[in-house]
Amino acid sequence: MTIMDTMEKKDKKDKKDSKNTFYITTPIYYPSAKLHIGHTYCTVATDAMARYKRLQGYDVMFLTGTDEHGQKIETKAAEAGVTPQQFVDNIVEGKQGVKDLWKLMNISYDRFIRTTDTYHVAAIQKIFKKMYDKGDIYKGTYKGKYCTPCESFWTESQLVNGCCPDCGRPVVDAEEEAYFFRLSKYAAPVRDLLENTDFLLPRSRVNEMIHNFIEPGLEDLCVSRTSFTWGVPVDFDPKHVVYVWIDALFNYTTALGFLNDAYPDADYQKFWPADVHFVGKEIVRFHSIIWPAMLMSMDMPLPKRVFGHGWLLLDGGKMSKSKGNVVDPYLLAERYSADALRYFLLRDFPFGTDGNFSNELLINRINMDLANDLGNLLSRTTAMADKYFGGTLPAAQATGPEDEELLALAGGLRGRYEAAMEKYAFQTALAEVFGVIARANKYIDETAPWVLAKSPDTLPRLSRVLYNLAETLRLCGVLLKPFMPESCDKIFAQLGVDPTLQTWASVATFGALPATATLHKGENIFPRIDAAKELAALDALQEAQKQAAADSAPADAPAAPAPGVATAELIGEHEPKIAYDDFAKIELRVAEVRACENLKESKKLLHLTVFDGERERCILSGIAKWYKPEDLVGKRLPIVANLAPRPMMKGKYTSEGMIVAADTADGGCAIAFYGADVPVGTRIH
Ligand code: MSP
Repeated sequence: MTIMDTMEKKDKKDKKDSKNTFYITTPIYYPSAKLHIGHTYCTVATDAMARYKRLQGYDVMFLTGTDEHGQKIETKAAEAGVTPQQFVDNIVEGKQGVKDLWKLMNISYDRFIRTTDTYHVAAIQKIFKKMYDKGDIYKGTYKGKYCTPCESFWTESQLVNGCCPDCGRPVVDAEEEAYFFRLSKYAAPVRDLLENTDFLLPRSRVNEMIHNFIEPGLEDLCVSRTSFTWGVPVDFDPKHVVYVWIDALFNYTTALGFLNDAYPDADYQKFWPADVHFVGKEIVRFHSIIWPAMLMSMDMPLPKRVFGHGWLLLDGGKMSKSKGNVVDPYLLAERYSADALRYFLLRDFPFGTDGNFSNELLINRINMDLANDLGNLLSRTTAMADKYFGGTLPAAQATGPEDEELLALAGGLRGRYEAAMEKYAFQTALAEVFGVIARANKYIDETAPWVLAKSPDTLPRLSRVLYNLAETLRLCGVLLKPFMPESCDKIFAQLGVDPTLQTWASVATFGALPATATLHKGENIFPRIDAAKELAALDALQEAQKQAAADSAPADAPAAPAPGVATAELIGEHEPKIAYDDFAKIELRVAEVRACENLKESKKLLHLTVFDGERERCILSGIAKWYKPEDLVGKRLPIVANLAPRPMMKGKYTSEGMIVAADTADGGCAIAFYGADVPVGTRIH
C-alpha cells in the first residue's frame, strides 16, 4: 500500500464521521448596475472556498445569484425607458453582465438564482403565508424614519446623528400600511445564538450586532410595501409586495428546491443548513439577526455560519459609482488574467477586515509572487530538467543535507494550509504556500544544480534536487488550484502531473510524484509587468471610464447610488470630513426659473432657463419624472452656481449649474422653493 492509498483511506474515514456535503453562498447582488471589484472579491473568495472543499472530496453546492426586485430597480428601469424585467435581464445576462463576469473570473458556481425566477416568486408567497398563518407576520401601520437609498426603515434609537446608520444620509418621516414580522419575539434566542456559538464570525462582528441592534431592543420588522409594484405580490393582499429581505434571504433555500418543484426537495434535505454564508459587513445584520429569526419562525434549521467580510476601499475611502471611482474587474482580468486578479484579491487583503485597493499593489503582487517567485521556480526547474536530463529525471538519485528543511516545510504544508482555510484566512493559506515557494528558490541557490551538472558523479544528486523541486511545485500547485485554477493546470502540464497526482490525499506528505518524472519546459505563465508603463496605462484607462460614466449621467442627477451599493458605499466611517472652507467653495444661490421645457431627446431631463441675479443660464436637470415645466416657471429655487459648465446631449446643450433637491421617501425628489421675500441671487450658506 502506497502513502497515497493510506492517506486517501484516512481522509475517507474522517469524512464518514461527518456529513460529506458543503453548501456555500455569496450574497445575491443587486443588478442595478455593472458589478465592481467589491462584488468580485466576495465571489472569488466563495469560489476559492468551494473549490478547496471539492478538492477535499466534499459534495459541494455553491450558490450565487441576483436580487432583482425593489424600488430602485423599478426607478432605474423607468429612467432607461425599459421594463424592470428587461433592465435586470440586460445586467444579468447581457454583454459584460453578471454572468459574463463570473465566466471571465472562472467562478465555478453550481446554481445561479434570480429572485425573478418564477419558482422563487411562488415559494416566497408560500413562505410569507406560512409565517402569516403562524401569527409571526401581522398587518399594522408603519410610522418611522425611512432611508430612501437603502430602502430601510429605522427606529429613532438606531439613527446615528439623526441619519441612517448604514449610509449616513438624512432620513425622512414615513407612514404606511404594512405587514410586520415579529422579530422582537425572537430576540432572546438570536442573542443566545450570537453570544454563545460561533454562528457569526469574525467575533468582532458579534459585538457590533449586540451593541448596535440587540441591546437597544429588536423591533418588529416591516416586510411589505405598497409604494411600488416591482416585487413579489402578497397573494392574499395584492396591493402589497414582499419587502426585500424575505424575498432575498430565502433564496438560499428556494434554490435548493424548498417549497418549489424547480429543483428536487432532496437537494434541500441534502444541503440545508448551509455551511457558510459569505456576506459583506454591511449586510451582517440581515444575515445574523433577521435571517435566523425568520428561520426559527419557519421551524427550519439555521445555517452553521455567517462570515462578515471586510470591504475593499479605494484610496482609503469608499468605492462609489456616484463618485465614478469603482474599479472595473473586467478591465483588470482581461489585462492581467483572471488568475492573477483572483490571487491578488485573496493574498493582499485579510478577508475579515477592510483593505485598501490600488493598482500599484496589484502589479507589485503579480511581479513579486507570481512572476518572480512562482514563475521563476517553475521555469528554472523545468529548464534544468530539460537541459541536464532531456526532461526525464534518472531513477538514480542521491539525497543530501540541504533537503531536510525543504522537505519538512513542504511536507507539513497541507496541514498549515488547511488550518488557515478552515478559518477562511485565505491570506494566511497563500502566505504558507508562498513561504514554501520562497524556500524552494533558496534551495536552488544552496544546492547549485549547475555545479552538480558538471561531473557524472554528482548527477544522482542533481536528479534528486530537481525531483525535490518538481515535487514541491506539485504540492504547491494542488493547493493553489482553488485560487488559480487555469494557471495550476498549466503548471501540472509542465510537470507532467496527471489528475491522480492532483488530489488532496496526494499532498498529505512529500513524495507522491514518481522519481522518474518527466518535465516539459513550457510558456512563461506569469510574465513580468513593466510597472511604470502599466500604472500609467491603467490611470489613463480608468480616467476614460470615469469620464464616460460622468458623460452618461445627467448633469445634476441626485447622486443616489444603487440599492445595497448604497449600504456598501456610503458608510460614514470612511467618509472624510471636510473643512468649512471646502463647503464655502460651493456657491449655492437662489435662482428664478424664467422658462422650462421638456427635452424631446430625453424623458428624464428638463431644460430650464434660470436667472441667478446677474444673468440667465441654462440648466439641464434629471427631474422630469417629478416636475412638469409649468410647476417650475416663476419659482425660486436653490442652485449650485459655480459648477464648471458641462456639455450634454452630445454637445447640443451646455448645462451651467445644478438644481439642489432632496430624495423623498417614495424614491422621488423634492425641491425646496423660496418665497418672494428671498431676493433672486441670494447666497445660501
Ligand atoms: N442584495 C443584497 C444582498 C442580499 S443577500 C440575501 C445586496 N446586494 S449588493 O449588490 O449591494 O451586494 C453587496 C455585497 O457585495 C456585499 O455584501 C459584499 O459582499 C460585496 N461588496 C460590494 N461592495 C464591496 C466592497 N467595496 N468591498 C467588498 N465587498 C463589497 O446587498
